[in-house]
Amino acid sequence: MPPTHPTEVTLDVHLGPDELMAGMRHDALHGLGSRPRELPPTWFYDNVGCRLFDAITELEEYYPTRAERSILIDYGDQIAKASQADTFIELGSGTSDKTRHLLDAMLQLGQLERYVPFDVAEPTLRQAADQLVGEYPGLTVHGVVGDFRHHLHLLPAGGRRMLAVLGGTIGNLPPEDRAVMLATLSAQMAPGDTLLIGTDLVKDPARLVLAYDDHAGVTAAFNRNVLVRLNRELGANFDLARFEHVALFDPDNEWIEMRLRSVGDQQVSVGDLGLTIDLLDGETIRTEISAKFRPEGWQAESEAAGLELVSQWFDPAGDFCLSLSAKPGV
Ligand code: AVJ
Repeated sequence: MPPTHPTEVTLDVHLGPDELMAGMRHDALHGLGSRPRELPPTWFYDNVGCRLFDAITELEEYYPTRAERSILIDYGDQIAKASQADTFIELGSGTSDKTRHLLDAMLQLGQLERYVPFDVAEPTLRQAADQLVGEYPGLTVHGVVGDFRHHLHLLPAGGRRMLAVLGGTIGNLPPEDRAVMLATLSAQMAPGDTLLIGTDLVKDPARLVLAYDDHAGVTAAFNRNVLVRLNRELGANFDLARFEHVALFDPDNEWIEMRLRSVGDQQVSVGDLGLTIDLLDGETIRTEISAKFRPEGWQAESEAAGLELVSQWFDPAGDFCLSLSAKPGV
């Protein structure tokens, strides 16, 4: 098919530089200024962080991306048929790399008109959107820069929509926040709209921990990069050599946690916030939870939000699950 009209990318920036900084300041002030110390994973994804995450997806130890990709390759056509969507909105779209398998399947079916990648990382989103427009002539690509913890009311309406959170990113939210996010999405879905969620599944804790503590140290660099970012963007003075990367599996909550552990007692200041904190030797800053799921657990969560499970798909090893739910009413 020859390209007809050159298609332009449109981009809604709900998170411009000012709001982005305000959000980071808020999270750093609240998260670092009280115990237990915590920083949300949102702030990993500056340009370096996006590149490091890309490198993580290629690590031997990090299976989720490959597992989800294989599901998208094997069952993309079933997902496309089950959703019948003309608009595909992906929250946390990053580079949209795996997503292409699903775009291919949806375009093949002939109903997809619009792809809406939504991400907190503007440069990565822009680059992805520009590339996609070139690769898929005729597809409208409308990017939205936002934080899915705060900007879910800004998703474009209209058409028959499939909303998606892939990669296991939904697991970054603690259960209460996840329930709120699901309810918020469900409330704005019209009958016939669908929700596609990628969840990493509970498995041997040793394998889980290795996926977040690889031998090459890429995940450790990804984790520490949030401190580099606070040093640069908020005038902090974290000494990187004095923070150890920690990945642990919490069996009660069935989630992975990443932390940064203080080596020795130390004082850190975040200049732009006028914040000085004392960290004790061994004290940690929790930087991420990555929840692991059971298929029936996800079904229960989505039903609690008023959605009906349509189908679940798995990779051959049973490591990862894609679940499609629909808003009832048609
Ligand atoms: C992008 C949130 C799905 O939780 O597995 C990878 C991020 N953190 N290695 C995940 C991540 C450490 C990833 N998600």
